[in-house]
Amino acid sequence: MRHTSLTVIRDEHQALAAMLRSLSMLLEKARRDGTAPPFDVLRAMMFYVDEFPERLHHTKESELLFPKLRARCPELVATMDRLDQDHGRGEAAIRELEHLMLAYEVMGEPRRKVFEDAVERYIDSYLKHMHIEEAEILPAARAHFSEADWDELDAAFAANRDPLTGHEASDEYRPLFQKILMSAPAPIGLG
Ligand SMILES: [Fe+2]
Ligand SMILES: [Fe+2]
Repeated sequence: MRHTSLTVIRDEHQALAAMLRSLSMLLEKARRDGTAPPFDVLRAMMFYVDEFPERLHHTKESELLFPKLRARCPELVATMDRLDQDHGRGEAAIRELEHLMLAYEVMGEPRRKVFEDAVERYIDSYLKHMHIEEAEILPAARAHFSEADWDELDAAFAANRDPLTGHEASDEYRPLFQKILMSAPAPIGLG
């Protein structure tokens, strides 16, 4: 049986992975061209990560999905502890990147590599995090959750309206998404 929450979680993972790949490609292109990256686009992309995945996606995993699974799958508790730690650090991690980007923007070349290395580490650990959820957590949920569990999860995740997963952006977010879609490279945008 298909559960809305599982579809939403996978779609949001895909959107985030695409965003992170675009971010990396944008930096790679600037490096190749010997120019500064478009900081305004990078800022919009990082703001998205903070605004959608960090606030909506992770919160619901940590507050709804994991607690249900902790009760049923003690063998996954250590894994969920680590994933919860990642969620807990998420906001600080993106702020740190934003700050390193600011340093690069105002200080120029001497601060480029520190920022680029931090971006690559961030992307790496994020992709690993999502992979563990998809490989270990979601299959366990599928195996152990009751209909009542799914009803609650489905309702919570269906309320996420991430515009990168096919939802119309609300008026307030439309300019942000237009900027990202028009300026960032594939896989996320047309730039
Ligand atoms: Fe997560
Ligand atoms: Fe996730």
